[in-house]
Amino acid sequence: MYSEKVMDHFANPRNVGELENANAVGQVGNAKCGDIMKIYMDIENDVVKDVKFKTFGCGAAIATSSMATEMVKGKTVEEALSLTNKAVMEALDGLPAEKVHCSVLAEEAIKAAIDDYKSRTGVSLGDSNSCSGCGVCCHKCNDVDGEK
Ligand code: FES
Repeated sequence: MYSEKVMDHFANPRNVGELENANAVGQVGNAKCGDIMKIYMDIENDVVKDVKFKTFGCGAAIATSSMATEMVKGKTVEEALSLTNKAVMEALDGLPAEKVHCSVLAEEAIKAAIDDYKSRTGVSLGDSNSCSGCGVCCHKCNDVDGEK
C-alpha cells in the first residue's frame, strides 16, 4: 500500500524538530483531519539554509513533510514557494488516494513560513510595498505625503 520511499521517510524522517533561530515559521491545520503541521526555516539572502518540521499528523504527513523539507533545503524562496504536494508525492513514488490530503499539510506550512518571512522582512507576496510610479499615491510605498 505504501511505497518503499514513503516507508523510509516515515521510519527515518529527515529534518524533524525545530530551529531556534528560525526567521520563518508557519503552522497550518489540515481541514480534512484536523492534524497540525509546523515548519521552521532559516532563510539567508532568500535561500533556505535550513528547515525543520514538527507535526501532529499521520505517517503519510510525516513522510511527505520529510521529503518536502529535503526538497526545499538549499533552494531559493521562490523555488520553495513553487513546490507542490503533487511533486512531493511523485518524489515518494505516490500515496494512496485517501492519504493525498495529508501531503497538503507540508506544502501549506512551507508557504505559511515563507509568508511569515516575507512579512518579517517587509516584502509582501503581492509586492505591494513597491512604488510603481503610477502618479496616484496609494500609500503602500510609505510615501505618506503623496509626493512621489
Ligand atoms: Fe491527518 Fe494524515 S490523517 S495528516
